[in-house]
Amino acid sequence: VLDRSLCWVTAHTEFELVAFINVAWDGGEHAFLLDTTVHPDFRRQGIGTRPVAGGVRVCRERGITWVHVDCVPELEEFYRRACAFRPSAAGILKLS
Ligand SMILES: CC(C)(COP(=O)(O)OP(=O)(O)OC[C@H]1O[C@@H](n2cnc3c(N)ncnc32)[C@H](O)[C@@H]1OP(=O)(O)O)[C@@H](O)C(=O)NCCC(=O)NCCS
Repeated sequence: VLDRSLCWVTAHTEFELVAFINVAWDGGEHAFLLDTTVHPDFRRQGIGTRPVAGGVRVCRERGITWVHVDCVPELEEFYRRACAFRPSAAGILKLS
């Protein structure tokens, strides 16, 4: 997966990995945040916003126009309020 990524961003304590995000890219104007994850012991401490911000910063530096993310309804507040994403129409098709 990471071979096909624009970048991935991590957050660490002194001893361990606590957060991760993967940024996929179409090679043009669109990038996609995937697999945003914070270790369960470290959630709701403001850590998750940091790898998201780091991934967005890389996209901006690379001249990408649009950064997409999908999430379950429960996490809309995380992406909208804490990470400044705005809602958009989107679709998904389950193949298996
Ligand atoms: C989603 C996730 C990355 C958030 O990371 P986090 O470090 O806990 O988030 P933050 O502490 O930076 O949250 C910032 C704000 O986002 C919102 N938020 C975060 N998690 C939320 C949740 N589970 N439900 C509702 N709002 C949430 C809150 O407004 C929060 O501020 P507050 O704690 O002051 O209320 C983390 O819960 C996670 O790893 N979840 C499991 C994996 C997953 O579902 N990833 C999403 C893939 S799209």
